[in-house]
Amino acid sequence: MKRLFSGIQPSGELHLGNYLGAVSNWVKLQESYHSFICIVDYHAITQSYDRKDMRTRVLHMAADLMACGIDPERSVLFVQSRVPEHTELCWIFNAVAQYGDLSRMTQFKDKAARQAENINVGLFDYPVLQSADILLYKAQVVPVGEDQVQHVEFTRRIARGFNRRWGKLFPEPDALLSSTPRLLGLDGQAKMSKSMGNTIVLATPEKQIRKQLSRAATDPARVKREDPGDPDNCNVFTLHKFFSNEERLGWVRDGCTSAGIGCVDCKRALADSMLDQLSDYRRRREELLAEPEKVERILAEGAERASAVARQTMEQVRDKLGLWR
Ligand code: TRP
Repeated sequence: MKRLFSGIQPSGELHLGNYLGAVSNWVKLQESYHSFICIVDYHAITQSYDRKDMRTRVLHMAADLMACGIDPERSVLFVQSRVPEHTELCWIFNAVAQYGDLSRMTQFKDKAARQAENINVGLFDYPVLQSADILLYKAQVVPVGEDQVQHVEFTRRIARGFNRRWGKLFPEPDALLSSTPRLLGLDGQAKMSKSMGNTIVLATPEKQIRKQLSRAATDPARVKREDPGDPDNCNVFTLHKFFSNEERLGWVRDGCTSAGIGCVDCKRALADSMLDQLSDYRRRREELLAEPEKVERILAEGAERASAVARQTMEQVRDKLGLWR
């Protein structure tokens, strides 16, 4: 089986953009790849956070991932800071990474603009740590959203640079995009993301999900209730395609194009479909959070399984570099 690696920041609760853009894909791919799924807390510290929340954020993210279907028997689910080889390999890659390449990373430029008072070196080095995450496990496949493609390209350059300088050790991994690499938010304007406030946190209570969906932007050309709408130009219909069955999709398409139903009806139906699909997730999440020791044990086991691979790679790396032994 080929190896797969992906990471997610413990940035609060899992939202619809994470789920549709990445996590649902990981759940499918774990059937056919030897998967490593990592909660990347060392990446998270490059942005400001409240230290008293960090443990809860990690715990909730682990529970969220499992509730979505990440199976810890199949996938190695672990926390980055529990496997110190990630930062060790990052240092070695720092001797390969080019300043010019890093300064062209769009995510770095965006974040630097957003936190101008704290452009720390970790923020600049972020893609190098990400390369270490991936290559420590010699992963060939990295399923991510579109915003991470540049970082995977960078990882390929790191692998090439290392192999050229010290001898072949690492594969050049490929990014694998989901069918919706770039999902629009409920505002119908920007990419769906937590920072834009245009997404839905999966664990939100039912009533609030309904309310948030009721405000979602629809086909901008459909102004009045009597106007027929165009589902192919409607972000709500895009979401229906994920959550609704064929029958309901037909009902929406016909109703919308003939003005038989209004946007309010359509969004109510979307809420029904979504809550229906998410009901297993919500129940499992509750169960897991009721037993945090169980989640902690799973993460500890994951770290052990990851460490076994990580230690082996680092032995090979030190050997390639000709370091003291
Ligand atoms: N940078 C990724 C994000 O913000 C998270 C991440 C860290 C990651 N290391 C990774 C993703 C390795 C894929 C592979 O979404």
